[in-house]
Amino acid sequence: MTSPTSSSWPDWLPIREELADLKPYGAPQLSGVTALNTNENPFPVPSAVVVQMLEALPNVLENLNRYPDRDANALREELASYINKSTQCNFTTANIWAANGSNEILQTLMLACGGRGALGFTPSYSVHPLIAKATGTKWYAEERGQEFAINVVEAVAQITRDKPGLTFITTPNNPTGTATSFADLEKFAAAARDINGLLIVDEAYAEFSTERSATGLIANYPNVVVVRTMSKAFAFAGARVGYAIADARIIDAMLVTRLPYHLSSSTQALALVALANADALLAEVAALIAERVRVASELTKLGFEVSPSSANFLLFSGFNCGSQSAWETLVSAGVLVRDVGLAGFLRVTIGLPAQNDQFLTAIASLRP
Ligand SMILES: Cc1ncc(COP(=O)(O)O)c(C=O)c1O
Repeated sequence: MTSPTSSSWPDWLPIREELADLKPYGAPQLSGVTALNTNENPFPVPSAVVVQMLEALPNVLENLNRYPDRDANALREELASYINKSTQCNFTTANIWAANGSNEILQTLMLACGGRGALGFTPSYSVHPLIAKATGTKWYAEERGQEFAINVVEAVAQITRDKPGLTFITTPNNPTGTATSFADLEKFAAAARDINGLLIVDEAYAEFSTERSATGLIANYPNVVVVRTMSKAFAFAGARVGYAIADARIIDAMLVTRLPYHLSSSTQALALVALANADALLAEVAALIAERVRVASELTKLGFEVSPSSANFLLFSGFNCGSQSAWETLVSAGVLVRDVGLAGFLRVTIGLPAQNDQFLTAIASLRP
């Protein structure tokens, strides 16, 4: 598929003017290579869990003539109990919303509450500004500082000055891996509260981090929304399940902009089985963290600079050519990593040990 530009759309197509220069988001999906480019969990769903999923399906299939539970009540109840168990909180179904991946959660939030614009700290997850554009939400960007940390004083000043309805913090941050401390998140929550704004904490990679979750702020700061996904640590990306944890009044606002019956019966049923087997699905998180530490150390030994990461990927720099050329060399060696558009950097997802070794062998030819 060719990428559109404003001049290549046909005259008769009434595409929105502000979208005419945008390209569809997406990392290359190449076959025959080791894919270390989309921060998935490389471990397949354990076969015992697959068997339970198959057992759940006949009931779903026989009832496909009916719409799914529009409010995904059973799933939200189980998500609440997972999050309560893992973060020592006390949420109920009323505090949870679930959707087709956390991207849909982000879109629902921007549609509902993006009227005064949204602020983010770059480099960060590039889909945030993309959804802003698609939903007509003004986007404010502030650059991260030294080692990709957010400068708290400047960030609070910007929140106070621009008064965005939504302030986005991704922690651990994609693509840098940087974690933001609970103490700093509280400062952002207070600044956002003081301007009647929401603080959206995108915790897609939280299970790989030792930092305290922002869910612990919600009781005192009802303007905090935590966004989570089952796509990463849970090894469930193909099922498309993301969720929000927030004050019930924010969830009510999101219901206004969600599409009716958005989450299919099969997605809900499979996610329920996944949550009942959370320990099995999350079992490899420790192994991935150990591999992250090993790969970071090997990259450093080779002479590369590696950003400290609390996620399942590493951002590194120092190769002896440009990012695009380094990316191509790795593809030729059968390894697909991510060029995140940061000059001089590439991002690699932590895979299985053999895949990581394949990456390390290939990248050695590009050492500084
Ligand atoms: C920071 C962050 N948020 C959200 C997402 C979206 O995940 P999903 O829509 O699969 O839940 C991603 C995916 O890479 C991400 O990196």
